[in-house]
Amino acid sequence: MNIRNSSGGKTVPFSPSGLPEKGFFLVFEGPEGGGKSTHIQRLSECLKKMGHVVTLTREPGGTPFGDKIRDLMLSHTSGNIEPQTELSLMLAQRSEHLSKLIIPALKRGEVVISDRYLDSSLAYQGYGRSLTAELVKDIHLLLFGKCLPKLTILFDLDPAIGFSRLGIEGRNPDRLESEKIQFHEKVRNGYLSLAKMEANRFLIIDASKSPDSVYSDLENGLKFRIPELWK
Ligand code: TYD
Repeated sequence: MNIRNSSGGKTVPFSPSGLPEKGFFLVFEGPEGGGKSTHIQRLSECLKKMGHVVTLTREPGGTPFGDKIRDLMLSHTSGNIEPQTELSLMLAQRSEHLSKLIIPALKRGEVVISDRYLDSSLAYQGYGRSLTAELVKDIHLLLFGKCLPKLTILFDLDPAIGFSRLGIEGRNPDRLESEKIQFHEKVRNGYLSLAKMEANRFLIIDASKSPDSVYSDLENGLKFRIPELWK
């Protein structure tokens, strides 16, 4: 489908966001080690029990093409690639992800939960790599229109704490995780600036709390921000 013209779709009404009005598109974001995946799983189980059909996905990834890009993005063998190259890779996988997975699932009325999406590009390539958030957002709007999530849940955490958690897991850091702590601090501050600028699109969760407190903040925040999800 032509994503750019999606707001003119004929069969399903499109909201001002540029995505189908059916379904719910939620995105989890944040610096490394914030524990997003555990809470995504728990939320997904809860929503399924309430009768929702839930599609879990992630970026980079979400399609076979996207998974190949994920390998390129995270592998140390890619080396020190240009910020513009990183952004182009992210846009390429997002195009496939939107067309082949996100939009069709929303048209079916599902809850789509993505582990990372546009705000990762804004935070990592825009702020972290200094391409600027304005440039990244302009290119997104040009290519994809206003295909924005209903809510972005930001798991905010001091990167130093995030990396100490990842260290405990004992796996080798990928190409981005291996960046200097200053890069990750820029990413975190970028996310916080974005959340301040677009407060109605973000729910900030303090990811430094215990897992149960984090989950309860998440559920309460969602009930308040998207009451229709709980009906
Ligand atoms: P991943 O292992 O999924 O990170 P996490 O488990 O912390 O979510 O790795 C995805 C990495 O890709 C992460 O470091 C952020 C980065 N990324 C970007 O730099 N730009 C993007 O647009 C996206 C979607 C991800």
